[in-house]
Amino acid sequence: MDKPKVVLGVSGGIAAYKGCELLRRLSESGHDVRVVPTASALHFVGAATWSALSGNPVSTEVWDSVHEVPHVRIGQHADLVVVAPATADLLAKAAHGLADDLLTNTLLTARCPVVFAPAMHTEMWEHPATQENVATLRRRGAVVIEPAVGRLTGVDTGKGRFPDPAEIFEICRRVLARGAAQPDLAGRHVVVSAGGTREPLDPVRFLGNRSSGKQGYALARTAAARGARVTLIAANTALPDPAGVDVVQVGTALQLREAVVKAAADADAVVMAAAVADFRPAAYAAGKIKKKDDREPDPIVLVRNPDVLAEISADRARPGQVVVGFAAETDDVLANGRRKLARKGCDLLVVNEVGERKTFGSEENEAVVLGADGSETPVPYGPKEALAETVWDLVTRRIG
Ligand code: CTP
Repeated sequence: MDKPKVVLGVSGGIAAYKGCELLRRLSESGHDVRVVPTASALHFVGAATWSALSGNPVSTEVWDSVHEVPHVRIGQHADLVVVAPATADLLAKAAHGLADDLLTNTLLTARCPVVFAPAMHTEMWEHPATQENVATLRRRGAVVIEPAVGRLTGVDTGKGRFPDPAEIFEICRRVLARGAAQPDLAGRHVVVSAGGTREPLDPVRFLGNRSSGKQGYALARTAAARGARVTLIAANTALPDPAGVDVVQVGTALQLREAVVKAAADADAVVMAAAVADFRPAAYAAGKIKKKDDREPDPIVLVRNPDVLAEISADRARPGQVVVGFAAETDDVLANGRRKLARKGCDLLVVNEVGERKTFGSEENEAVVLGADGSETPVPYGPKEALAETVWDLVTRRIG
């Protein structure tokens, strides 16, 4: 079988050197990579490096090898175009259909999925011009990976950092595996909650649970690879931020509720994978609770937390918004699941059977996804990513 053809577009930012790592991963995993840098990208990494690492010729202009009509051919034959790094200037050109060099021509002739990995200073990323260009590209079906937060060129830190090349590679791999020209969640905003809330008793103690957040992170990662803008509300997870995802860290159920409600305001779908504590201590002791000689401890009084899933299901922030809940059941799984689905008022409920060795912290999962329309979709034991893909399949069919 022919190797999948990937065009790696490189525009003129310092992160171009990290593009070499992406190129290496793509080549080593069996892709035929053609690098198309812009002229300014060559200030950072020279053509000889790109050519040696890819094993293919490198040109920036449409005037090289004109008889091969490269400005049309490269885009037409590509299975995937990934622009990494994508500067503010490149995003602007792509959004407006300008075509003054080989890369921008390639973007106009490509009919395959296109992934942009922007990297720039925070001010440039946040500028309304850039944000509107990104929105335009997403609306047209491109996958624009959210930049990471961290150290930028020089002494600055903030949003705009080039995501980890290994993560960009994973997104490319998933986009290629899906094969569709247009990712089905392109232009959509989805919210995923993950992890487990902690309800503080005093400054050193809390009531918590054992949710690792892995299923929620798998949902966030797969949605990003399907083109969605993703907000991940993460409660006490110890996992690295997935590339291309906006991560909001929360601690308690009340903080999670505030973050979810805010993010859901313009969301097409909300998936509540977090284990939210149903109760919290009625009182918080400002100082550490001490043992009192021989006396028995005071009982801990609990009060109810709001049910975030039920609240957002009952009060949809926009018409056609799809709300998904998770439920862990030990017995009578389907009947309990159906009752919970009705009680919470969501559109889909992912029901896991939990037991001794199942689900918590593991890489694998097995579930049934129940629909409010009566549907029942079994998901066999397998990676959490497979369950995540099934959830998004069911969500995309329902988004209004
Ligand atoms: N959930 C929520 N807010 C809460 C509790 C749970 O949004 N305060 C959401 C979880 O994110 C998850 C689903 O509801 O999507 C899980 O429900 P579960 O906790 O199993 O429901 P309960 O009503 O607490 O059911 P049970 O009677 O089994 O405890």
